[in-house]
Amino acid sequence: PSLEKEFLPMYFGWFLSKRSSEILRKAGQAFLDELGSLKAFKKESKYFASAIEDPKIKIDLTSYFVKRPPGVLHCTAKYADFGKAAGAEEYAQQEAVKAAYGKGFTLAISALFVTTKTVGARVELSEQQLLLWPADADKTAPADNLPRGSRAHVTLGCASGVEAVQTGLDLLEFVKLEKAGNKGDEVGEIGGGKLLYFNNGMWMLVLSKKIDVKAIFSGYYG
Ligand code: 2AM
Repeated sequence: PSLEKEFLPMYFGWFLSKRSSEILRKAGQAFLDELGSLKAFKKESKYFASAIEDPKIKIDLTSYFVKRPPGVLHCTAKYADFGKAAGAEEYAQQEAVKAAYGKGFTLAISALFVTTKTVGARVELSEQQLLLWPADADKTAPADNLPRGSRAHVTLGCASGVEAVQTGLDLLEFVKLEKAGNKGDEVGEIGGGKLLYFNNGMWMLVLSKKIDVKAIFSGYYG
């Protein structure tokens, strides 16, 4: 039969279970609460100016990151834009993608991060999961050469006027700094792990114990 060209999703990705979404959302919430009440954060709070009411008390990062994904959380693998994005058709036709579609995975969350624009969770993809990762996803410039999967993340929130695509770009900034030998300033241990500060309002909590989340690889059609 002559079928119409396949209809591609807005994006392919791993969709967290409801329970895993709740666990990760809570971890992100706890991080924002603790970060906002830290002396070291308040000292650098000028970057989050609109969140400051009374810096002596607490900086309300939860209301700073007003745009929060409704429903279940996800880790975008390939942004396809319903087939309009570069490489979308080729991606969808890969055997690895077809084989993984609808299958269950466990993703490892290794860190949580905050910038002036976004809050997100860093995902550490396994070798098998990297087979579903597009080759060009970790580049923002042709000369970029970061490890595969560097951009893998779950968006937890965005500041007013910021689009979700920014979270991955922000994570790439951290990775670029790491690659350049900047390990960040160790602020100390807080709930869940080691807090690092990279200047310019860039904070990362490296989890002492990775959070495993359950997710289904699938497409989102809007
Ligand atoms: P996110 O992966 O950081 O959350 C729908 O907009 C989803 O696709 C969002 O989850 C968003 O960001 C992601 N997205 C939007 N535009 C994108 C792009 N150009 N590249 C990669 N991911 C994108």
